[in-house]
Amino acid sequence: MANLKRDENRDQWSSKVGFVLAAAGSAVGLGNLWRFPYTAGQNGGGAFVLVYFAILILVGFTLMLGELVIGRHTQLNAVGAYRKIRKNWGWVGGIGVLASFLILSFYSVIGGWVINYVIKSITGAFTTGDVNMGELFVSFISSPGEPILYHAIFTLLTLGIVMGGISGGIEKYSKILMPSLFVMMILIMLRSVTLPGASEGILFFLRPDFSMITGEVMLAALGQVFFSLSLGMGVIITYGSYLSKAENIPQNSFIIPLVDTGIALLAGLAILPAVFALGFSPDEGPALLFIILPAVFAEMPLGSFFALLFFLLVLFAALTSSISLLEASVSYVVDEFHLGRTQTALLLGFIVFLLGIPSSLSQGIWGNLTFIRGLDFLDSIDFIASNIMLPLSGLFLCIFIGWIWGVDMAVEEATNHGRISFKLAPFWGFLIKWVAPIAILVVFIRGLA
Ligand code: PHE
Repeated sequence: MANLKRDENRDQWSSKVGFVLAAAGSAVGLGNLWRFPYTAGQNGGGAFVLVYFAILILVGFTLMLGELVIGRHTQLNAVGAYRKIRKNWGWVGGIGVLASFLILSFYSVIGGWVINYVIKSITGAFTTGDVNMGELFVSFISSPGEPILYHAIFTLLTLGIVMGGISGGIEKYSKILMPSLFVMMILIMLRSVTLPGASEGILFFLRPDFSMITGEVMLAALGQVFFSLSLGMGVIITYGSYLSKAENIPQNSFIIPLVDTGIALLAGLAILPAVFALGFSPDEGPALLFIILPAVFAEMPLGSFFALLFFLLVLFAALTSSISLLEASVSYVVDEFHLGRTQTALLLGFIVFLLGIPSSLSQGIWGNLTFIRGLDFLDSIDFIASNIMLPLSGLFLCIFIGWIWGVDMAVEEATNHGRISFKLAPFWGFLIKWVAPIAILVVFIRGLA
């Protein structure tokens, strides 16, 4: 039976900073460091970045605020939240929870690669100048057993943290590690843009070639905005449900996308210029992060030390995202089916692990199996979840807030019942009623056509 009562004992973030860090922690992850640079590389560089910005501004900020509002208003998981406001809307949250689950399955495969790279940097695999980073990477991901083992380790780490409850140690570590990641990215970026031959890559990344803006590029950018901001998955709704009633939502929904985009841009500037400088090709795909950056570290003094530090920080960023992905489905099952938290996390973690296995194998022995649009298993799951399910769930979110629940109700909640000012409220209302849903719909239809 659905539990629609407000739970007075619901866990809350222990401090204001705690929430911002956790939400930024959910947003900043492999999406920024791994997915953004290679997706930009595959979709024309600057053209992609330009479209990304347009969608970020029109859709990203708008939905971030919308999800936080719904979460805090209802104090429930994504499915329960929709249902509490309108009885027969739970399924929208359902799409999100399902998408978060699919994403987690391959997310932890990539997380496993990161763990392997932490170990590689300890054992000094990157120290000699003449290792071929491409071969090193491909021989690892294409082996059948090892990546699955690391995928299991990553899933277990995620599980361990989620089973410990919500406001535990993560907040504490985030305060140090997130800023460290930022500083680290700046250092790597500086090395990368000053490599001889980097300027071509900088131009590729920052100068949009308008003829490259196709429906496909727009759909890729739309999916990336959702993925990177953790939107459309019930994750932000769930996090918002732990948000205290005194918190300033409009401000938070501005800060989180800003931080997220900053890190993504740094990652793009750290990786793409080096791609050109070192003679690789920008459309290398999911391998890009793992091949290019080790090659950059090899060009840096103290390279293996930086490599270790960097991959540790990436691992931390990936974990703060994966816990939020798992949390979305755990809190759904716990709230709706009254199962214990530990049991639920274990069960879901196990399913995620199984679901990730084909994604892992698709990088090697199952590499020739293609599903949709000629994509392998991992990319197909990513495409279905990120480029189809998330935009759809976002579209319904706009309709739900703009036309069913009502902008006025949402603004009531966003302003803490008039206690804080939100000058852009009418503008936001216009965005969520008209601009965002139409933008999503247009991009979606053009991209799939
Ligand atoms: N936004 C995270 C990232 O960029 C991934 C994520 C997606 C996390 C959805 C939670 C929900 O890595």
